[in-house]
Amino acid sequence: MKIAIYGAGGFAGEVAPIALAMGAPGAVDLVYVSDLPEEIGTAVNGHRVIGYPELAAEKAGRLVSIAIADAPARRAIAARCAADGLRFAEARAASHVRFPNTRVGDGAVLCEFTIISTNSRVGRHFHANFFAYVGHDCVVGDFVTFAPRASCNGWIVIEDDAYIGTGALLRPGSRGKPLTIGKGAVVGMGAVVTKDVPPGATVVGNPARILEPRPR
Ligand SMILES: CC(C)(COP(=O)(O)OP(=O)(O)OC[C@H]1O[C@@H](n2cnc3c(N)ncnc32)[C@H](O)[C@@H]1OP(=O)(O)O)[C@@H](O)C(=O)NCCC(=O)NCCS
Repeated sequence: MKIAIYGAGGFAGEVAPIALAMGAPGAVDLVYVSDLPEEIGTAVNGHRVIGYPELAAEKAGRLVSIAIADAPARRAIAARCAADGLRFAEARAASHVRFPNTRVGDGAVLCEFTIISTNSRVGRHFHANFFAYVGHDCVVGDFVTFAPRASCNGWIVIEDDAYIGTGALLRPGSRGKPLTIGKGAVVGMGAVVTKDVPPGATVVGNPARILEPRPR
């Protein structure tokens, strides 16, 4: 089995053991892919870093897992890979728990000790970092990122490209009245979110409040 992890940073290194466990011991041919000229040709933890042209030349011969946290960048990479006929890996740690009646989109990464609870669905290229939790009856969009220990309780809608920081807690919604995190919103590490977050907003604190951009 051949797998490419797109990215050569910290999260890419965390996805690597999941990818390596997708085949028999020693049987996975793993490379990293970088768009940074200074990284191409180097190695990360013993695995080569290649550029996109080399990946694209392999066509469907290698499954791709995109380990880049930034949603717009991840979206652009996914579109380029799909347009070139590349297919995406199901990078899901053996210790993740996924309940029945859930849906997980193409290219999602579910790290160690993550949970997708009953009746929830998560979108394409969703990232669930260590111990992240998606509660019951949630709808999580495409290119959403959960940092480690982010906890989303039941009946919550998280729109595309949102980022939920380390240890953030999202108050449960209710049937027909979900708590909503808007498209591209950022929930800061440690925030306790008790109300809807508008699209594009950044919230921090307990209870979470909008962090206004600093004047330039
Ligand atoms: C919320 C966040 C995106 C803001 O980043 P930023 O726009 O660069 O903001 P700044 O660092 O300039 O901070 C602005 C103010 O907010 C405060 N602040 C920043 N993050 C905060 C947080 N999570 N909780 C409370 N206050 C926070 C800062 O102390 C600063 O306060 P000040 O104006 O009184 O000095 C960022 O701090 C954050 O929490 N990112 C998530 C990190 C994470 O979980 N990473 C996981 C890696 S796997």
